[in-house]
This record gives sequence, C-alpha cells and structure tokens, in this order.
Amino acid sequence: TQPTVHVINHLDPGYLRQALEHDVRTGLTATPKWLPPKWFYDEVGSELFSRITRLPEYYPTRRELTILRARAAEIAAASGADTLVELGSGTSEKTVLLLDALTGAGTLRAYTPVDVDAVTLEAAARRLAGRYPGLEVLAVCADFERHLRLLPRSGRRMVAFLGGTIGNLDPAARQVFLKEVRATLRPGDTFLLGADLVKDTGRLVAAYDDAAGVTAAFNRNVLRVVNRELRAGFEPEAFEHVALYDQRNEWIEMRLRATRDMRVPVGALGLVVDFAAGEEMRTEISAKFRLEPLGAELAGAGFTVLRTWTDPDGDFGLLLAGV
Ligand code: AVJ
Repeated sequence: TQPTVHVINHLDPGYLRQALEHDVRTGLTATPKWLPPKWFYDEVGSELFSRITRLPEYYPTRRELTILRARAAEIAAASGADTLVELGSGTSEKTVLLLDALTGAGTLRAYTPVDVDAVTLEAAARRLAGRYPGLEVLAVCADFERHLRLLPRSGRRMVAFLGGTIGNLDPAARQVFLKEVRATLRPGDTFLLGADLVKDTGRLVAAYDDAAGVTAAFNRNVLRVVNRELRAGFEPEAFEHVALYDQRNEWIEMRLRATRDMRVPVGALGLVVDFAAGEEMRTEISAKFRLEPLGAELAGAGFTVLRTWTDPDGDFGLLLAGV
C-alpha cells in the first residue's frame, strides 16, 4: 500500500509572527520581564534541545523512554486506540514505540502529529508514513494552545502529550489546556500525559544547568530569535544563564541575568527596553509533579485516570486518562 500523507495547515503565514510580537511586547514591558519558552525552538534551538536530551544531567527524556519501552504494549491495550494524535513534536523515537505497540495490538490505522513548525511536521509525517505501510498520516500544523478544536475527530484516538512539556504551562494555563484537551475527546478516546516528577533539588537544578553549558546556550538562543525576527539588539553573551528550583511552586525557573546596565532596541516593535545590572528575566518554568495531585487536576478537568506508570527510580510519570 502507498503511504498516505496529508498535511493540514491551520496557521496563516502571519500567525506565528503576530504571536511572537505579542509575547515579546507583553513580556519585555512587564515587571519583572519574561519571555515564553515556546520561542526557544527555531532550528538552532531545536538542535540544542536535542543535545540537551542526550546530556548526562538531563534525565527526563531517558526516563520517559524507559517507561515507554517497558509499558507501550500495556498503554496500547489500555487505550484501545486506532489513531495516535501527538501534540508537539516529540522525538520520533517515542512515537515509534507507541506506533509499534498499537501495530502489535492490531488496532493502528492513523497517526496525527500536531506541531507549529510545518517543516518539522512534514518531515516527521513522511518518515513515519514510510515506516508503517498502510498507516494514514494526517499531519496538522497548529498551535496546541490555540487550535485543539481543529483536530480530526475520526477514529478511536489516543492524544499523547509527552516529554513533560505540560510543565511549561503555569497552573492557570494548565487548567485551561487540560479542559480544552478534554473537550476534544469523546467516550473511548484517551489522553496520555508525560510529566516530570518532584525529586532531589540538586538533580533538578543540574538537569537545567549542565556542566557543558548546552542549556545555557539554549536559554540565550531565545535572544537570538528575537534579534533575528524582531530586529532586536540583545547581546546574548551579556546575559548569564540562571536555573533555580522554586520549592514553593515546585518548578524549575530558567532566567537570563543582565551582567551590566543595557538598553536594548526592538526595532520591529518600536520599543526600547532597559535592563539594570543584575536584573533577571524569566524565560521558562518547568513544573515538577506528584502523581496524585496531577491525577486530581486531570479529574478536575473532566478526565478519569485509568493507569499511571513511573520508571523504576520514580523520576518521571506517564498517566493514561479516559473521559
Ligand atoms: C521540552 C519543556 C520538556 O522543561 O525540561 C530542557 C525544555 N528547558 N532544558 C523541560 C527544557 C531546559 C523541556 N521541555
């Protein structure tokens, strides 16, 4: 059978640009200043993130893979899914484990990757279509924080949101997101959520402040993105990488700290932004979870938690929820 690949683009050309302008204007005029983590991931940033996933200190990717290798068959059976919908471009390594398991269960028919980046999306779609003859691949270019209602509704779906990216959302945004995912599901559909778990602070901080400085480069890359896209004048090397664990909120914060007073023009916004020496700008939160409260949040959004799994060290969790 010829592989079938369809790509649907819900993002008009101006969408990403407008979203970036809005976020940068909002974040750089706020006190304290902040930038959202979604703008880390241009081509360079995506490559840096992929290097992060291979760092000795960065355990989440390996731990999630450990769970999937051990449990993909159980997950496939418990979901009963014929369609895998994957939010955010996970590495195809994780996807393949789920697709293999659904093939093994004899149910697999369709795969829908969802990503904001059309290039990444189409490449992933073609690679996987080639690997699974007869698989219907319907790739959807969309922003999972905005366009969940536009996802295809046919088949018995398992919507997967892996990697711990849920941790990038603050509690209010997380609540909204979970309710929106819930609203797209019908009886029989499931939601597979990957979440990094609370653990020793030293290990958490090390995972976001590696010895080789890859995370620092990843953090500063957001400034290069803003420089290029919005004609800004950041000097990335004049900012220090900061990673700290907020005990009260149970999340990692990444920040960029100005090493001296600076005046930064953002040409495309007609904006000039002043930084004082030592001023810190938040660039990411990465929340860490406990399984029970996270299950309660899912329940609060209208899900029923069916199963949970962790790796043997209890570092990372996967939750499968029904509706
Ligand atoms: C891709 C959001 C899961 O929060 O651990 C890695 C991103 N930031 N190192 C995470 C990230 C710094 C990552 N997520």
